[in-house]
Amino acid sequence: MRVVVVGTGHVGLVTAATLAALGHDVIGLDRDEEKIGQLKRGMCPFFEPGLQEIIDDGVAVGRLRFETEPDEAVAGVEVLFVCVGTPARSSGEANLVAVERAARDIARHLTGPVVVVEKSTVPAGTSNRLHQALMQERPDLANDLEVISNPEFLREGRAVDDSLHPDRLLVGATSRRGFETMRRLYDPLIRKGHRLIETDIATAELAKHACNAFLALKISYANALARLCERAGADVTAVADVMGSDPRIGRAFLDAGLGYGGYCFPKDLQAFERFANQLGYDFPLLREVARINDEAVRAAVEKVKDSVWNLEDKRIALLGLAFKPGTDDVRFSPALALARHLIDEHATVVGYDPQAGANAKTEVPELEIAPDAYEAIQGAHCLVMCTGWDEFRALDLRQMKDRLAYPIVVDGRNFFDPIEMRKMGFVYHGTGRRLASEAY
Ligand code: UDX
Repeated sequence: MRVVVVGTGHVGLVTAATLAALGHDVIGLDRDEEKIGQLKRGMCPFFEPGLQEIIDDGVAVGRLRFETEPDEAVAGVEVLFVCVGTPARSSGEANLVAVERAARDIARHLTGPVVVVEKSTVPAGTSNRLHQALMQERPDLANDLEVISNPEFLREGRAVDDSLHPDRLLVGATSRRGFETMRRLYDPLIRKGHRLIETDIATAELAKHACNAFLALKISYANALARLCERAGADVTAVADVMGSDPRIGRAFLDAGLGYGGYCFPKDLQAFERFANQLGYDFPLLREVARINDEAVRAAVEKVKDSVWNLEDKRIALLGLAFKPGTDDVRFSPALALARHLIDEHATVVGYDPQAGANAKTEVPELEIAPDAYEAIQGAHCLVMCTGWDEFRALDLRQMKDRLAYPIVVDGRNFFDPIEMRKMGFVYHGTGRRLASEAY
């Protein structure tokens, strides 16, 4: 099928490349000339495992190309994905200006029947707005234009795999034609047994926000339990294991730590809360989820302060700066929130991340970036594990201890084994685990 994907950010580029991998002819469209220039030179503009390879494959077989101008690209397209950003306004609600602009811009160049797919995370009801805008631009295509919702469930760092092996495909549409177009598009996945769920459009739109908000809620629940476990002398990882052994609850997303970050959870949760509010439904549970998430970072700051006393004249090492392992994305990264708190209180903060060092430096210029983990730790008065990259598993604990000025570790991801750490002589503070002073 002929597909155009508008917006080549994380979601758009992964969507374009994986649809090409499924055998479609795909054009990735973006007004950002620098980004498209980079893609035309064969370079993926951000780090996402496996993405560069499938872009290379798609380009090599002529199924994937990139353009800045919609005119030629859009002619004869059957399916048009809208994957532009929906950042938060200062009020917290989703800013849909880019969605509207993309729709109006492209509408002018459409030549025939097309299914417009809303992939960006948007509040329920946006598809009606999208349809209205398209109709205002192209009343002549009234019978040929259909807007449907097909939310993404991609996790950064696993986005390619999530796209090629989805837990479910969700399609919200109003007509058989819409569903059938999407079934044809995803046929290679459906044949492999991946489930496509059909709903009305508002349900699909709302389900996406509901999923992200629920996952954030699970994380905040675990973090609130961590605060309680620290006071009660219990162990939050064991509590989570017990909870997770109940299939009704499930163990996933119950890892306490510095909390969630990234471009989806914080923004989507806020947008969902605002959306509920606008519909006259107060949803304080969502506000509380965000509050507990902020508290998780503050709790780690307090542990650092408790351990080293005043932060002036202290050097604090942060391992991991990305919002989670496997990505160079630092947007809303809890590690950077922590860095800012420490810097505000006059600590010298030095960080290391296998991928996200440069992005972190741009976000927090006062943060020193070390070339490797040992360099970051060298001479630090306290080490905070912020993002648990697998490569940190290979760290030599003895060397770590020798390099630290004081052998203090605040483990913001419950990454290390508390017993081993204490045996090695570290003053170890996990998250929601027993206090360092207690025998473990
Ligand atoms: C998320 C959703 O998982 C995905 O379905 C949606 O489409 C986009 O948003 P992503 O933002 O890539 O994906 O990250 P995810 O892997 O879900 O992790 C989000 C954050 O939660 C990370 O900061 C992670 O460190 C944190 N997290 C996750 C925890 O703190 N504890 C957990 O138990 C799980």
